[in-house]
Amino acid sequence: MKTILHISASPRGAAAYSRIASDRLVAALVGRSPGARVIARDLAAAPPPLVDAAFSAAILARDAASPALAVSEALIQELEGADTVVIATPMHNYTVPAVLKAWLDQIVRIDRTFRSTPAGKMGLLADRPVFVVMASGGWFTEAAQEGVPVQPDFLTPYLRAVLGTIGLCDLRCIPLEGMARGPDSVARAMAGAAAALG
Ligand SMILES: Cc1cc2nc3c(=O)[nH]c(=O)nc-3n(C[C@H](O)[C@H](O)[C@H](O)COP(=O)(O)O)c2cc1C
Repeated sequence: MKTILHISASPRGAAAYSRIASDRLVAALVGRSPGARVIARDLAAAPPPLVDAAFSAAILARDAASPALAVSEALIQELEGADTVVIATPMHNYTVPAVLKAWLDQIVRIDRTFRSTPAGKMGLLADRPVFVVMASGGWFTEAAQEGVPVQPDFLTPYLRAVLGTIGLCDLRCIPLEGMARGPDSVARAMAGAAAALG
């Protein structure tokens, strides 16, 4: 039985565009793998802990048994158990929202999900498809509309770099742009995403 891990990071819950589009994507994925188990992790509803002194000390000491790493271990095991990952996220100030960064800080862990080698960081997780549905008020790809300037994008390259660090390189990014530019713009973006998903 396939397992799909659905991570959502918008504070807007079921009203979030990233969530609406990713719910459709998850439904389509389940349609292709009947009986698939879906694990929904709403990071905004239940934010992962922030890195604190105890967490930092345990990481630096490579103290895998430390209680400070218990949440990290649980989140990593949840990720390891997923055949497909769907991340639904808004763009907040050109990059990931704080709750998604908090999740990444829990799962990107030296000597657990990556190793530091003379040749650089080496991912320890098996690769698998990671769909990333990204909603933004304006535009950040080449496809800027109506003369609106393209914004800096620290969201896509950051996610590629940080997930690539732990071995997740098969990222399939689905941008939903112009979501704060009125209903026509929203409809265009949703239709574009639906077409991209096939
Ligand atoms: C704190 C905050 C920061 C934002 N920063 C950006 C930004 O940098 N660029 C942008 O295009 N839109 C930005 N937006 C707009 C959101 O990306 C947009 O509303 C998007 O639809 C949110 O995704 P959601 O509908 O999935 O919640 C920001 C919104 C908030 C609340």
